[in-house]
Amino acid sequence: MNANLSALAYIISSVCFILALQGLSSAKTSQRGLTFGIAGMALAIGTTLMSPIVSSYGWIISGIILGGVIGTSIAKKIQMTALPQLVAAFHSLIGLAAVCVAAAALLEPYAFNIGTVGSIAPASLVEMGLGVAIGAITFTGSVVAFAKLQGLVSGNPLIFTGQHPLNALLGILLVVLIGFFATSESHSLFWSITFISLLLGFLLILPIGGADMPVVISMLNSYSGWAAVGIGFTLGNTLLIITGALVGASGAILSYIMCKGMNRSILNIILGGFGGDHTKVLAQGGKEQRAYKTGSSEDAGFIMKNAKSLIIVPGYGMAVAQAQHALREVSDILKREGVKVRYAIHPVAGRMPGHMNVLLAEANVPYEDVLELEDINRDFGQTDVAFVIGANDVTNPAAKTDPKSPIFGMPILDVDKAKTVLFVKRSMAPGYAGVDNELFYKDNTLMLFGDAKKMCEEIIKSLEE
Ligand code: TAP
Repeated sequence: MNANLSALAYIISSVCFILALQGLSSAKTSQRGLTFGIAGMALAIGTTLMSPIVSSYGWIISGIILGGVIGTSIAKKIQMTALPQLVAAFHSLIGLAAVCVAAAALLEPYAFNIGTVGSIAPASLVEMGLGVAIGAITFTGSVVAFAKLQGLVSGNPLIFTGQHPLNALLGILLVVLIGFFATSESHSLFWSITFISLLLGFLLILPIGGADMPVVISMLNSYSGWAAVGIGFTLGNTLLIITGALVGASGAILSYIMCKGMNRSILNIILGGFGGDHTKVLAQGGKEQRAYKTGSSEDAGFIMKNAKSLIIVPGYGMAVAQAQHALREVSDILKREGVKVRYAIHPVAGRMPGHMNVLLAEANVPYEDVLELEDINRDFGQTDVAFVIGANDVTNPAAKTDPKSPIFGMPILDVDKAKTVLFVKRSMAPGYAGVDNELFYKDNTLMLFGDAKKMCEEIIKSLEE
């Protein structure tokens, strides 16, 4: 394919990727976004395959078939709750690819049109050094994130004395080594940069607890984008530079949005130590027994049926129980009874951005019934029932009242302002931040203990009787 035509095709692909990101920003337009993404990627692959630089197709076709088969079978089997670790696993591959491309460019620079061995331009060596460093950090960081989320290693933050000074030292050493590498093209320096970056990726993610993993994944997503930019410069591929920058920037923006949703700084998250299982034990240990009211599915059915308005607050537990379909049935029945039913979505409910929106869309909950925190929070005061299903931290008033709480400052859904609050969960255990929820003990709260899906099915039965 001639150079002008391929440049034009790459520009069209880039526009498709931008439109894909725009579409994916809301559940309503997400399918259109996906179609643009697929079209852009198909055009990009097709154009690259027709480029004169491609001398044989054997390896490429085998790779596409193998990757396609593995990707399709994973996509068919994957549970929604396992998506964060899948994303982490995919990021590790992008990091590894960046390392491999940089190593190939160093060993065979003529194949990349960047000179010959021993005479690679310093600018290309800087790109290579940065590409391999970011790629290697992304690789080991993503592997650790995957292992923590998959439960292969403990999700607790792993902290040891001197960890942060050590990381800072390794970071400074990396910058110095990349500088020397750019002026010497020394292979041993290249492998030292690779080794130190692999170690740094490992050390950076170890102290981060499970609750912060989604932010870390989004950060690694951003790193993998910048690693792709590095590969793009090495390969002289404009599309890869643009796509990498889109991924890098959108990952960074997403991390920022999540931090804002939790009212934590990115530095606080990187420094780690928050959100491990041990915090739950701390929260439970030594706590005096306090009185709370419990109810049954029949009680819940009765209260809901007699309400004029009801707001459903879904959280991580709904995702774990896969209760969204049964929940929609509950709301369908109540709507038929004349109850005004809406859903309130907290920006960090669940374990990944948009987690609740995706599940509710999967269960065909009408988009107009699903409202974001800022659009519905004021309505709790005029609502009869708040039905909190598998959510906890996102309703916890400690975020407003207790400056010592790890969630202090996080905006919350003001469910306590509703006349009655129904909490569906399996026990009195705290949520992911590991802090007790004052709401459980309030006079207008009724605890409905049980698995979220089972509880919804029982409520349906009681509503139908
Ligand atoms: P959580 O505070 O984690 O509470 C979830 C509750 O669901 C738990 O208290 C648990 O209680 C209950 N649960 C678990 N499995 C259940 C099941 N099968 N049936 C019924 N209930 C079940 O969740 P949330 O309110 O959605 O808050 C999200 C938390 O994750 C926040 O702390 C947030 O900062 C953090 N986080 C979120 C994100 C994103 S982007 N979403 C990113 C980083 C951190 P039981 O064990 O008693 O059942």
